[in-house]
Amino acid sequence: MAFPDGFLQELKARNDITELVSQYVSLRRRGRNMVGLCPFHGEKTPSFNIYTENGSFYCFGCGVGGDVISFVMKIENLDYVDAVKFLAQRAGMELPENAYDDSMSRLRKRIFEANREAARFFYQSLYQPVGREGLDYFHRRMLTDRTIRHFGLGFADDDWTSLTTYLKSKGFTENELVAANLAVQRRSGSGVYDRFTNRVMFPIIDLRGNVIAFGGRIMTDQKPKYLNTSDTPVFKKSENLFSLNNAKNAGTRTLLLCEGYMDVIAVNQAGFTNAVATLGTALTAEQAMLIKRYADEVVICYDADEAGQKATARAIPILRKAGLLVRVLTIPNGKDPDEFIKSQGADGPEAFRAVIERSGNDIDYRLQKLRADYNLETSDGKVGYLEAAAKVIAPLSSAIEQDVYVTKLCREFEIDKSAFQERLKKLNRQRSREDYRRQQQKIRTDLSGRSDKIDKDKAKIPRSSSAEEALLAYLLQNPDSAAYISGEITPEQFQNSLMRRYYEYFLTRINDGKDAMMNVTADFTADEADKIYQIISKHAGVASTKQSLDETIQVIREESAKPKRSDIGKMSPEELNAYLLNTRKTKK
Ligand code: CTP
Ligand code: MN
Repeated sequence: MAFPDGFLQELKARNDITELVSQYVSLRRRGRNMVGLCPFHGEKTPSFNIYTENGSFYCFGCGVGGDVISFVMKIENLDYVDAVKFLAQRAGMELPENAYDDSMSRLRKRIFEANREAARFFYQSLYQPVGREGLDYFHRRMLTDRTIRHFGLGFADDDWTSLTTYLKSKGFTENELVAANLAVQRRSGSGVYDRFTNRVMFPIIDLRGNVIAFGGRIMTDQKPKYLNTSDTPVFKKSENLFSLNNAKNAGTRTLLLCEGYMDVIAVNQAGFTNAVATLGTALTAEQAMLIKRYADEVVICYDADEAGQKATARAIPILRKAGLLVRVLTIPNGKDPDEFIKSQGADGPEAFRAVIERSGNDIDYRLQKLRADYNLETSDGKVGYLEAAAKVIAPLSSAIEQDVYVTKLCREFEIDKSAFQERLKKLNRQRSREDYRRQQQKIRTDLSGRSDKIDKDKAKIPRSSSAEEALLAYLLQNPDSAAYISGEITPEQFQNSLMRRYYEYFLTRINDGKDAMMNVTADFTADEADKIYQIISKHAGVASTKQSLDETIQVIREESAKPKRSDIGKMSPEELNAYLLNTRKTKK
């Protein structure tokens, strides 16, 4: 069951991939293709390619590829059906009658609905006798009712079935509640019970306003302090941020990155709506890329304690890699933003603004932190510090930026600028040598397929795998040759099981008179589809002649005629001898 091919064809024709992608990525022409910085991983040199002639994209850096539909799925975080709807709406097209509604897409929808009902239930409980304790807690933490409503905060009472009973009465099944992680299966026998009890609740809302998950805080000193929704079909904690839905409308390209829910909320209440937080995990590259879509600069507002400082040191390179400018807030007296704002009473907002304005960038921050590691009263200490400082400054790509720090340091330590610059040059030469080595290493492992997680056979049978890939690429570029190719090679002759599946799939589609690639996004997993686009990209631009095709066919034949390695193990000495003689003959 799928959308009709004709519909998809028109959908793709009316959503030009270059035009669509350029709304998210700045592209420039390179030969017949367009290239840009990949929006799915941080990079400084473009490896994200758009192939205009077949409407596909592929990133050589991170291996993600697809068509307009998969691009929208990834960049807008939609499932297949919703991505198709998105594009249909964009092009002013009607969806076909009884449009595709697969079970995963249905389940996701039900989870959104259950979460929304749960959020309502939690919010309403706060203002009923059962939720008194929760409301008092929030008020004690100085939250106003307006803030509580704005964030949709709530209360999960200590009855272990109140939410599940309520949601079941609204027509949700136990399966749906478990899938949403609102309920947990009883270990003994049947039935479910509430995931969250006796906690104040923080709903997590995505950019389209869907409630995707919850965080629940216990009101005492018990552990765990916070309980969060586990990953579900609509939620991955490493790819979402708390309050990004508010922050993206704050009207600034600077975001405040906080450690937790309460910081974000307190900072909002003080008038700074551009705050977000990770969800109980260290910042990930995915989250940094998400931030990059809405901001150019991030101010890290983590706790001033040791854990917060460690997290700051880890977050800086991740944000930098995503192409963001970074500043670091230093809050006086080891406080977190929430405590700091409160400690200033009515002056909280002004005091916090002053701290933000005083915050230095990440280089200042790191140079400052390094001082603590050296005794700057001694010559050895000074040399050690300057060496370490050079390592921080050397990677900066802007010569002007470098010069600012070099000048400052040289003045302070009364040393010769040219000596320091010499040192920086040497460090950079070293670094580019190491980068080059690492890159070469990566190309080697990629080529050998040793790191290929989807195509597990490739490392074991590289020769047949690459020939089979080449045959698939030829077939997809020249669908008219399907009759000839399938006459020469049967799927059974494919040694690589993934390639065999692709081959069967594409032959069937072409034989049925369909466009080979039209439905790849729906018919394969995301990783398998990426792989297909990788194969096509690798062979794009390589002229494929009838002669090279026949050579490829010859290799596949040879490889399929070889006994499998497992068979060799079972051969008798005589059989093995005959086999070895035979291979020697064909080699000549
Ligand atoms: N966190 C978590 N699980 C825990 C502890 C923390 O998921 N057991 C996450 C929460 O998202 C929390 C953030 O880490 O908001 C920061 O933790 P912490 O600083 O301990 O909490 P605060 O946000 O300061 O919360 P509070 O002020 O209520 O103590
Ligand atoms: Mn706190």
